[in-house]
Amino acid sequence: MNILFVASECGPFIKTGGLADVIGSFPKTLAGMGIRVRILLPAYPPLGQVMAAGEPVRAMDNLLGGAARVVAASSAGLELLLLDAPHLYERPGNIYVDAAGRDWSDNAFRFGALSKVAAEIAISGIDGWKPDVVHAHDWQAALIPAYLKAAPGAPPTILTIHNIAFQGLFDPSLIAPLGLPDWLFHPEGMEYYGHLGFLKAGIAFAQKVTTVSPTYAAEIMTPEFGMGLEGIVTARAADLTGILNGIELVAWNPVDDLLLPRNYSGETLKNKAANRAEVARRFALDDNQNAPLFCVISRMTTQKGLDVLLEVLPRIVARGARLAVLGAGDKGIEARFAQAARTWPGAVGCVIGYDEPLSHLMLGGSDAILVPSRFEPCGLTQLYGLRYGTLPVVTRTGGLADTVIDADPAAIAAGTATGFQFSPVTPSTLEGAIDRACTAFRDPQVWTSMVKAAMAYPVGWEQSAKAYKALYDAVSGAS
Ligand code: ADP
Ligand code: GLC
Repeated sequence: MNILFVASECGPFIKTGGLADVIGSFPKTLAGMGIRVRILLPAYPPLGQVMAAGEPVRAMDNLLGGAARVVAASSAGLELLLLDAPHLYERPGNIYVDAAGRDWSDNAFRFGALSKVAAEIAISGIDGWKPDVVHAHDWQAALIPAYLKAAPGAPPTILTIHNIAFQGLFDPSLIAPLGLPDWLFHPEGMEYYGHLGFLKAGIAFAQKVTTVSPTYAAEIMTPEFGMGLEGIVTARAADLTGILNGIELVAWNPVDDLLLPRNYSGETLKNKAANRAEVARRFALDDNQNAPLFCVISRMTTQKGLDVLLEVLPRIVARGARLAVLGAGDKGIEARFAQAARTWPGAVGCVIGYDEPLSHLMLGGSDAILVPSRFEPCGLTQLYGLRYGTLPVVTRTGGLADTVIDADPAAIAAGTATGFQFSPVTPSTLEGAIDRACTAFRDPQVWTSMVKAAMAYPVGWEQSAKAYKALYDAVSGAS
């Protein structure tokens, strides 16, 4: 079976969030099941070298305002179809926003072009290869089913919503320049309150819609989480499934992770101490063996609830616990964490920026990872936490609710607890969860049992790949 993945980011080449981890890892598991995935991805500047080693497979004189081509290349165990369109993608900095933090003014064209080329590949194939299913990810690829709506014999499309907060809303005057069928512009189609809605179009017209956890699938049918799209999502309920993300088990493995000073397994947990000492050094923390070292690895946005965490720092410090924060995003939140590190030197440490090697060290050396998100479609850092025996303290929402087993007395007694959940997201509930983690930490038997249960918890792609394969089979008529 052949699947065309279409996405705006893909690890290890270009990443702003968990979407890149998913696109860069999931196809490898599918390959082991006999499913060939090719990933259509914009050829941003960091992909220059990969592209240079590839082979041009299609040329276009005019793709929404400039010449373009598709280059087939293989790298990092992935098969890429790179959309080389310099007028759209050859620019420095962030792939979504300009240096001032505003969306690139031509984003409708940049990602409309991605969907348009995907639709052309879906219809006519590329270098002798044709997809059986097109799997589009997030709003940047969500116009594909709209482009394919009028194409007889086009393969079926699946849209995966990784985050319904990002919808791709544009002026409807762009419908004609984008070459979209204007008869699809209506409230049950690609119109969102007078705007052209990319994600809305995908939800309306894809054969199947998935999202990245069962709980988030239910949540986005409600006004609280649906971000205005709950109506169309509910209308598609029969075709909507929530399938959890997995993580790449080879790259994220404490047993042989080269980015850790000391490797360890569930049997050699004592080795974690050396990593903890290195985290303490990097974040200028005074190590305190009697209380946990918490970490945060996160985009700093309202979604992630870090403003709530800022409220409870005095409590963390009072318990003797330590906090190491790695993140970037909202300048106000960045500044408040930097200030906290000055207010509580030795207890709170903070690195502002994006640093993947440091994130591995933090997972290998911290005792617990805090994820106090207001909403979280799936979340990957808690999965990395489980894998590294760094117990997640999470909001009971979305994928966090589905992947962490709360340390209630029954779960502790049964030896199944893997972390701490709280709800709703308020300073007092977060404080309560942090208190519970500190208390559990003081009981080595409970803590070690939880760490072992966390490390044994399945966080790979295997289960979810079966669910996706069933979906691919169903839509393509292969089953
Ligand atoms: P989201 O996609 O909403 O940001 P996820 O938990 O799904 O959340 O994925 C975030 C990914 O980005 C994880 O791989 C996480 O380790 C990584 N990440 C986030 N912030 C940083 C950072 N400052 N430095 C390194 N990695 C980060
Ligand atoms: C989005 C979500 C996150 C999810 C990721 C990958 O960025 O915010 O929860 O894990 O996509 O699906």
